[in-house]
Amino acid sequence: MSTGYKSFHESSIKDPKGFWAEQAKLVDWHKPFDQVFDYSNPPFAKWFIGGQTNLCHNAVDRHLKDRAQQIALVAVSTETEQERTYTFEELHAEVNRMAAILQAHGVVKGDRVLIYMPMIAQACFAMLACARIGAIHSVVFGGFASHSLASRIDDAKPKMIITAEAGMRGGKAVPYKPLLDEAITLASYKPEKVLIVNRGLSDYSTVANRDIDYASEREKHLNSKVPVEWVDATHPSYILYTSGTTGKPKGVQRDTGGYAVALASSMRLIFGGNPGETMFTTSDIGWVVGHSYIIYGPLINGMATIMYEGTPLRPDAGIWWSLVEKYKVSVMFSAPTAVRVLKKQDPAFLSKHNLSTLRTLFLAGEPLDEPTASWIHDALKKPVVDNYWQTETGWPILAIQRGVEVMPHKFGSPGVPVYGYNMKLLDEATGAELGPDKKGVVAIEGPLPPGCMQTVWGDDQRFTKTYWETVPGKQVYSTFDWAIKDKDGYFFILGRTDDVINVAGHRLGTREIEESISSHANVAEVAVVGVEDQLKGQVAIAFVIAKDPTKLANMEAEVMKTVDSQLGAVARPARVYLVSALPKTRSGKIVRRALQAVAEGRDPGDISTMEDQSVLAQIKQVIGK
Ligand code: PRX
Repeated sequence: MSTGYKSFHESSIKDPKGFWAEQAKLVDWHKPFDQVFDYSNPPFAKWFIGGQTNLCHNAVDRHLKDRAQQIALVAVSTETEQERTYTFEELHAEVNRMAAILQAHGVVKGDRVLIYMPMIAQACFAMLACARIGAIHSVVFGGFASHSLASRIDDAKPKMIITAEAGMRGGKAVPYKPLLDEAITLASYKPEKVLIVNRGLSDYSTVANRDIDYASEREKHLNSKVPVEWVDATHPSYILYTSGTTGKPKGVQRDTGGYAVALASSMRLIFGGNPGETMFTTSDIGWVVGHSYIIYGPLINGMATIMYEGTPLRPDAGIWWSLVEKYKVSVMFSAPTAVRVLKKQDPAFLSKHNLSTLRTLFLAGEPLDEPTASWIHDALKKPVVDNYWQTETGWPILAIQRGVEVMPHKFGSPGVPVYGYNMKLLDEATGAELGPDKKGVVAIEGPLPPGCMQTVWGDDQRFTKTYWETVPGKQVYSTFDWAIKDKDGYFFILGRTDDVINVAGHRLGTREIEESISSHANVAEVAVVGVEDQLKGQVAIAFVIAKDPTKLANMEAEVMKTVDSQLGAVARPARVYLVSALPKTRSGKIVRRALQAVAEGRDPGDISTMEDQSVLAQIKQVIGK
């Protein structure tokens, strides 16, 4: 782009109407919009008012004309040793079948469908089928267990749940269906139907009149054609739950038109993908990166996408690179933790593959440290582009936007504000905008650009209160991340301002983990903090006060088991320390920052507000620091 980054970004902020009307040409509209945006009721932004479109049409149907026989989806499982490609035409047929099944069981526009599935092709069909008929999907990460699932069922109230009987990890079947059954028992709301993809990996029981078998349903609808349901641009396309400061997960609600435009534009201007090429995003459909850049982004852009079930190390550490070679991947998207895992392996696994098609590697989800960035950059000899964003935004907030201008990278920085985002670095206490090299909260002035969250599902007030009322004197969106900005406008992210932690790129709420641990019969009090970890970025550490200190045998293992069975292994604390007191302020608030500092072997700083200053010394002793 000849205009250069600065003026491009400026035009997106000064003339959002003109700017986004231009980007909106990248998607198909059934009915053109009358108004680019409406911000008459801040902080609720509505994009492309009056326009009608459909995500599934943009991701699948519209490509049939030019690329029906081109590969749209590659589903690879190194766990079950299955690999299958689907052309756009085949994907279209499968999505129609799935949509017909949904309709046959009464799912209509606006109904919620919860998807609890491993990384298999049917999960992609399910998401697109929902979009096709205007149903709202809510994908729940397969690593979450029954309690996490139950709270999401109760909040989203899905008419149908789509699942598989099992996933597979490291060669072992991981049951899904029994966990789902348990979650439905726990939940107050009961779905009408459960559709099960039976992979033949493990036994499961079924519930009469509720459970239906995907394979036999599919047979009934082999030739079904389900017309696309044209929905308003503002129609919710999905809910994706994410962790915050309370134990109750927030349902991030996404629109349709704004999301389609933001993704289409980011595919060109940030990710530099061209129609006909292949994108490989190593995330999971349960996370936002999976929604945006495994499913919708690449497909909307007419690219093939790879869904991968397995670890980066099986059958060997070259598996991802062999897929890059085989499917001529041009754009790859992964996370720093995955790169740190690969870095421990023989570099020959990487160098033996022909990676000539690969143009750029994108990394996001957690801070990218310099050794990791340098290693992968030197190994690949391709640009490595860090990008910073959130479930809430749906697409990058900070990045070097190579499709706009190839600006220099700076280690430790995900770059500069993405077009459409009016970013401010603000003083936490006063709300004043900060100059270079000052630490502040990363905030975004409204309206949020297209593609970002519309609201918290079913709770407008929570949306306003949580995100828009934390900076004094200003209604701005808080990212809850600390950062500094240098004199060139590059941001350096320094970590969360709240109790959210980031384990291997997975966003977890410490309060959720605490609530789970509290349910153990012998737990009187608990505090969970995130502690620096060389491989995973952070790990959760729990400090527990037992009700009965005489019954401590196996306590650590039991606490871990409680979290495993309720939330899933993804949330399991790496260590559980049994302590006799927790550091608290005089008003009784646990001082988590001090706990975290002590656990990381750092100076806890000013602890004068603490009621009993000897507590930290005791804790230091327990953890041996
Ligand atoms: O703290 C930031 C961190 O991950 C949080 C968002 O996580 P999630 O909602 O799971 O969305 C991930 C989308 C990529 C942020 O608030 N984070 C994300 N990307 C980066 C990052 N921290 C540092 N550098 C990044 N590139």
